Amino acid sequence: DTVHVFAPATVANMVCGFDVLGFALYDPGDEVIIRRVEEPGVRLVNITGDDGRLPRQVSKNTVSASVVSFLQHIGRTNIGIDMELHKRMPIGSGLGSSAASTVAGLYAINTLLGSPLSRRELLPFAMQGEELACGHGHADNVAPALLGGITLIRGYDPVDVVALPVPPALHASVVFPHVDVPTRDARQMIRTKVALKDAVTQWGNIAGLVAGLFTDDYALIGRSMQDVLIEPTRAILIPEFYEMRRLAMEAGALSFGISGSGPSVFAFARSAEQATYVTSIIQTHLTEQGIGSNGYVSGI
Ligand code: HSE
Repeated sequence: DTVHVFAPATVANMVCGFDVLGFALYDPGDEVIIRRVEEPGVRLVNITGDDGRLPRQVSKNTVSASVVSFLQHIGRTNIGIDMELHKRMPIGSGLGSSAASTVAGLYAINTLLGSPLSRRELLPFAMQGEELACGHGHADNVAPALLGGITLIRGYDPVDVVALPVPPALHASVVFPHVDVPTRDARQMIRTKVALKDAVTQWGNIAGLVAGLFTDDYALIGRSMQDVLIEPTRAILIPEFYEMRRLAMEAGALSFGISGSGPSVFAFARSAEQATYVTSIIQTHLTEQGIGSNGYVSGI
């Protein structure tokens, strides 16, 4: 009675789609192992790879807290569960670290109990996990971590998730510069009112991006991935942001922007080779500036 689950890192927002678009990487991600035991209750018996940064208390850690609310929902609070979380991706990176852990835990408990809920039905529990982790229950990391590929959160009330097609050649280049940008802070600094002119630009871009995904139109995807609402504010927190963008675009990337709330950045490319090249160009530049980083290349 043991289940072992991996859930992937995700890139939220996809530049123009703040809180509504996101996609899953193949790698990195987190692993959760859960075991059915005699003694009733949920326990976090082992956490590795977090340098002691995550809460150990069951009600404070998103992995265990979301499993507890899942068990309450299905009326199985009397069973005994031991959980292990193995972080295999950086925390506070803007790559959906809390979402990967939460989704792995929920998928594991659901599987252990014979899948009483569908993947989509797990979503509200995963969103509660995001609320606990960063003060806001956005779904643009948990939905792609749960469903894979590219997802659109068409609406939040009630939550309405649409899986979008992935053009076959699309690859992502992702770089996590080693600087601290907590999601909580990166959300608080955003303006909550927008000008109509900017809103028009933004929804034109979101529609263009979605149209490009449906028609494999890489040029349309590239020119639609621009953000006039959030990026100008958040880019201030990311050292070398505009220079990284210049280098990525010069290296042939389709687009470049912030992953989630940062500090990670990502670019879309038209092949694995091109994405690999873009990742190395950005990392080399950061190294020259004395900034360490992790680099990834992934299909979608
Ligand atoms: N949409 C969220 C934000 C994602 O931008 O704050 C956080 O990873």
